[in-house]
Amino acid sequence: MKNIETIDAVQEMLSAEGYVCDRALGVVVFLSLTLGRPLFLEGEAGVGKTEIAKALAAGLGRRLIRLQCYEGLDASSAVYEWNFPAQMVAIRTAEAGGGADRRALTQELFSDDYLIERPLLQALRPDENGAPVLLIDELDRTDAPFEAFLLEALSDFQVTIPELGTIRAPEPPIVILTSNRTREVHDALKRRCLYHWVDYPDVEREMAILQARAPEAAEALSREVVAFVQQLRTEDLFKKPGVAETIDWAKCLLALDVTTLSPEVIADTLGAVLKYQDDIAKLQGSEAARILEQARASLVPA
Ligand SMILES: Nc1ncnc2c1ncn2[C@@H]1O[C@H](COP(=O)(O)OP(=O)(O)OP(=O)(O)O)[C@@H](O)[C@H]1O
Ligand SMILES: [Mg+2]
Repeated sequence: MKNIETIDAVQEMLSAEGYVCDRALGVVVFLSLTLGRPLFLEGEAGVGKTEIAKALAAGLGRRLIRLQCYEGLDASSAVYEWNFPAQMVAIRTAEAGGGADRRALTQELFSDDYLIERPLLQALRPDENGAPVLLIDELDRTDAPFEAFLLEALSDFQVTIPELGTIRAPEPPIVILTSNRTREVHDALKRRCLYHWVDYPDVEREMAILQARAPEAAEALSREVVAFVQQLRTEDLFKKPGVAETIDWAKCLLALDVTTLSPEVIADTLGAVLKYQDDIAKLQGSEAARILEQARASLVPA
């Protein structure tokens, strides 16, 4: 395994993948890797939760397997399914050929060839590069029954398929779960995991992120963009901008050859930062100018 023996090494590995990782996050990632415990990340939208799993997989040279959660997600979409259409074709072909051996056919139909592996099963399979990183993304979108099912799956890293037997991971995957907290995830599941709240970054960290993700932006513009977004987050908005929005906005401004912010430029490009009409309407008139002024004031050292 790659050198991840210290917290610093973990932070360095993530930063080599363009992920700016603060000390607190470095500590939980380190512990999660060292103790083999799943890592549960909660936070607002666009603060870099999903990206942690991607950077971790890339940094460790492991495969990333992603289970995207949604309402109604069930075990067959998460673990495995039999390829029913292919089974039907095989049955028809056998019938047409005549004299099919029923037992052999049944055995054939429920073999690996007809098994569709979904993320949770894929994550249990051995991999020459080591156990994969399993990202269970946006867990809050599923329902309680699936959560209970997941709890079991995460506790023993094995899956039983009646027709095939039990499949056990030779080495448990590195598990990252994320949630936007649209609802509380059950305590029992949380108890299995290490927990970390991914917050909006402070000015310096957001600058570093922008530097990593939009290096073509000049420092002066980046500073203004970050200061404005940080100021915006203190306003009473329905949906505060995440880091993703900061990066998007900087890229939009670059595409428009903007070198410095003005109320006009802000009005033209606000759709990159705010995604709700009510929030955008709030910034109409003199509001954008006021926030820009406050942002600029914060740039001048006291
Ligand atoms: N610390 C960071 N270092 C580098 N890039 C970051 C960081 N935080 C966020 N980003 C960037 O912000 C973008 C959004 O991050 P990500 O998709 O991981 O957010 P999220 O928290 O999963 O959001 P959502 O809840 O909407 O899924 C990513 O494309 C990534 O480039
Ligand atoms: Mg995400």
